[in-house]
Amino acid sequence: MKLSVIGTGYLGATHAAAMSSLGFEVIGIDVDPKKIELLRDGKVPFFEPGLEELLLQEVKSGRLKFSTDFADAKDCDIHFICVGTPQQPNSLAADLKYVDAAVDAIAPHAKSGSLVVGKSTVPVGTAARLAKRLAELGSLAELAWNPEFLREGFAVEDTLRPNRLVVGVTSDRAEELLKVAYKPLLDNAVPWIRADLPTAELVKVAANSFLATKISFINAMAEICEATGGDVTVLAKAIGYDPRIGSRFLQAGIGFGGGCLPKDIRAFMARSEELGAKQSLEFLREIDSINLRARQRMIDLVRLDLDEDLKGRKIAVLGAAFKPDSDDVRDSPALDIADQISQAGASVSVFDPKANANAKIRFPNLNYVDSIDSCLSGAEIVLHLTEWKEFRTIDPTKAKTLVSRANIIDGRNALDRELWERAGWHFRALGRSTR
Ligand code: UGA
Repeated sequence: MKLSVIGTGYLGATHAAAMSSLGFEVIGIDVDPKKIELLRDGKVPFFEPGLEELLLQEVKSGRLKFSTDFADAKDCDIHFICVGTPQQPNSLAADLKYVDAAVDAIAPHAKSGSLVVGKSTVPVGTAARLAKRLAELGSLAELAWNPEFLREGFAVEDTLRPNRLVVGVTSDRAEELLKVAYKPLLDNAVPWIRADLPTAELVKVAANSFLATKISFINAMAEICEATGGDVTVLAKAIGYDPRIGSRFLQAGIGFGGGCLPKDIRAFMARSEELGAKQSLEFLREIDSINLRARQRMIDLVRLDLDEDLKGRKIAVLGAAFKPDSDDVRDSPALDIADQISQAGASVSVFDPKANANAKIRFPNLNYVDSIDSCLSGAEIVLHLTEWKEFRTIDPTKAKTLVSRANIIDGRNALDRELWERAGWHFRALGRSTR
């Protein structure tokens, strides 16, 4: 079986390398020639742990190739569509132009009987529309949907050992073809769920909505803890022991960001409105608001610690990526906060182990430094905004010698408070009262 993967971002590059490692011949296609050049050389254009090693190994094996020419995919049995579906600039809805373009571009080359399989996250109803589009273009390929659940930072692991495979199909034959492609994973007892097209599309947005809801739930509890003197970290631990609730995704802090959760819940709301089911997802509006309020609460704490005066104050920001083990800064809560306090007149130094370069492209106004020490140097307050391991293992006693005031706010509830307080730091965190 030969496979093509269209779109070579986080999802596509990982999927292409992973499918090749399962023994298939894979061709990765992208419209960006620079990206394709890098991938051909076995280089990943972004940071994703373990991916570069896998990519290099597969390129060397000769099974994995890359091209900008869709005609190079003409022999493939399955074409996986892995392009982005970002939020539209002036609306909550997803922008489907890349998905539409990918289907239009592959249609003339996809051989009769091959499968065009969407993996991108799309509004429900897109797959049916694209199936119609394929037919209108005279293609004899069949459309299916196979949502992807990988997390950045764990992309390789999640692709090769997913916790489930969901396929939306309209024929037994399509399911059988996908079973052949995923046979090595199925042999490892990965659960297989066959669904219709709308259900497969919905599984993905429902899962991300649930995860976003869990995070905003604990951040709402953090607000209540702040109002009552409670401690959200203890609360989360205590409720998490109930297996019906579970302890994961209950880390209170500055909230969720990235290229997925925020835009997916917004696109889901926009789609529900189009479907006349606005009320069903009205709660997601509140999930979004709670999430954005967490950023504001962090800024309020900074103002409180600096007596409301941010002008010219030296502030150290640890973290720019939307989460650790990633260089992705799309909708990063850390950078949003850094930018807002800089706009208010503060002098902000930012350090991130991997995301400085991407952050600089989006927010060139901030001062990026290349080490924790230079970030802390002379700071009146330190903000811990992305929980990289490097930050969790900072020695607070040594750090105290670098700053001008030993003042820290943990925006991720990931630092050892006792340790920092013992070293003489004034320690604040979201959802925990100050001692
Ligand atoms: C998310 C989903 O977890 C994946 O299953 C999904 O495939 C992916 O979106 C996607 O749609 O492609 P990802 O965006 O990589 O994955 O990141 P997450 O690990 O979900 O984290 C999202 C955000 O939530 C981060 O900013 C993180 O810091 C924040 N978060 C996470 C919290 O604030 N608290 C938590 O307890 C967990």
